[in-house]
Amino acid sequence: MKVPQRTHTCGELRKSNAGTEVTLNGWVETQRDHGGVIFLILRDRYGRVQVVVNLEDSEKLAKKTKSVGTEWVISVSGTVTERDPANINEDMDTGAIEVQADSIEILNEAKAMPFLITDPTSATEEVRLKYRYLDLRTDKLQRNLEVRHKAYQSVWNTLSSLDFFEIETPFLMRSTPEGARDFLVPSRLHKGRFYALPQSPQTYKQLLMISGYDRYFQIVKCFRDEDLRADRQPEFTQIDLEMSFVNEENVMDVAEEITVKVYKEVIDKELARPFPQMSYREAIEKYGVDKPDLRFDLPIHNVTEILGESEFKIFAKVKKSGGIIGALCVKDADLSRKEIDNLTEVVAPVGAKGVAFMKVTENGVDSGISRFFGDEAIAELLEETDAEAGDLLLFVADTARIAYPSLGKLRLHLGQTLDLIDEDKPAPAWILNFPLVEYNEDEDRWDAMHHPFTAPMPEDIAKMQSNPGKVRARAYDLVIDGHEIAGGSIRNFRSDIQQKVFELLNMDKEEQREKFGFLLDALQYGAPPHGGIAFGFDRLVALLAGMKSIRDVIAFPKTTSALSLMDGSPSEVSEDQLKELGLKIINTPK
Ligand code: AMO
Repeated sequence: MKVPQRTHTCGELRKSNAGTEVTLNGWVETQRDHGGVIFLILRDRYGRVQVVVNLEDSEKLAKKTKSVGTEWVISVSGTVTERDPANINEDMDTGAIEVQADSIEILNEAKAMPFLITDPTSATEEVRLKYRYLDLRTDKLQRNLEVRHKAYQSVWNTLSSLDFFEIETPFLMRSTPEGARDFLVPSRLHKGRFYALPQSPQTYKQLLMISGYDRYFQIVKCFRDEDLRADRQPEFTQIDLEMSFVNEENVMDVAEEITVKVYKEVIDKELARPFPQMSYREAIEKYGVDKPDLRFDLPIHNVTEILGESEFKIFAKVKKSGGIIGALCVKDADLSRKEIDNLTEVVAPVGAKGVAFMKVTENGVDSGISRFFGDEAIAELLEETDAEAGDLLLFVADTARIAYPSLGKLRLHLGQTLDLIDEDKPAPAWILNFPLVEYNEDEDRWDAMHHPFTAPMPEDIAKMQSNPGKVRARAYDLVIDGHEIAGGSIRNFRSDIQQKVFELLNMDKEEQREKFGFLLDALQYGAPPHGGIAFGFDRLVALLAGMKSIRDVIAFPKTTSALSLMDGSPSEVSEDQLKELGLKIINTPK
């Protein structure tokens, strides 16, 4: 079959095209039979257009048009005509015209659809993932992939214009611990040995700095075998970059440039520079998380000193044991008693036992617990929290480990349910001064907060043995609207410091050599000071496209249980394949 050559796309015809002979190719979205005429909506990636087939014009054409089903692929030739003013469809870009068909060619038929392309909610997400190639025909996903494409171009251009080289790095590499679990690939040629898929190109990009490439970037797939959540995928894409002879500000500057440009070029939003900065500690103590959503205020107030000396036993006990009494002041809050009681469910998963409250009225505060506190404490409380009549004060008292995240969760819940978030004003911020390591109670050891290649602050190096928890990292995270969009650091470029960090992470010399010998060696051949950052590209695109889940901006995503419902992966493989790899499956769950 010779494919009819289209003269135009389905989204492009306007009033000015009236009178033109056109050929259009596309999918039949709907057919409406109005007796003597059939109206078809023809769709392609560029838009939709109405095609009118006059059944009286030709019997053959009438018969063919009547046979056409939804989502069949056809080619239409005809003349563009202006619609009567009364029939103009404002909802369609091509709504001022229609195409009077002279001929129709059926290019391919389609089976009955598992769901309507015009109404994807007519099927469950499972069905849509199974037929992802059909879901990808919907407006939403077509728009999202367009945003993704534009974001990719924008980032690529920004970095190229800043003298970054795009350099590809291997997907088959050595298994190196970087935080998550590796996906392993068995080697056929070297039975019993495995490659790992990169969790990120971290070590390669550092090696490229040692090779003198100075500025590297890659928009690259990363693989992590971790438990999935809405904003995680086992394979995802990073904008990965590394720079030589830099300090924190230089890397952050490039990251801001990328972000500002991509917001402007893709969704025409201006972000003010420099982005605000706050320490990790401030983020936790003020917003209860290390990725605060700054599109709304509602900060946490530490009122331990004000309310901890009271008759209220729960608060007094928390203060005595070194815990935190934190408060949120919800402005003009109109919450019923039941709604307030239900807030306990919001904090329970984090471990908090409850949420206490006080309603602020013209005559002071009103609640079951207010009688436990003296007038002076209440006055101080109102001043500290800026509370006025009509406001609602909510309290969580617990250890800092529980109180801050609980209040953070509560804050986010209130921000969302009380509509406090200004969706139109993106709020980027840098989180700085992270601890280098965090204590892993289960394993009784220190773990790297970012990854083991992050440099400690020079002035904290002395504390690495005596007080590891107090050593700050030269790391920075970029947070936008409550999502961790990028993370990076200045690296250990001296072999001795890198070894010290490995030691702190409980790695003895032998293990260091075994896992990172190549890097430790390379650091001894003239490694320049260097640092970098990686953006979660899927998350960035999800923000640009206004999507909650990164699945909506990935063409072929996995489910939350890491399955591909479309091609049925992961799948079993044949005995022969296993044999060739020298593998034997010893345990298959039912
Ligand atoms: P990090 O592990 O912080 O840093 O990853 C960088 C960014 O990648 C995104 N991200 C993910 N997105 C989707 N699914 C996942 N499973 C997933 N995991 C991470 C996040 C995160 O901020 N090599 C370092 C970077 C560096 O130091 O330069 C790294 O990979 O948005």
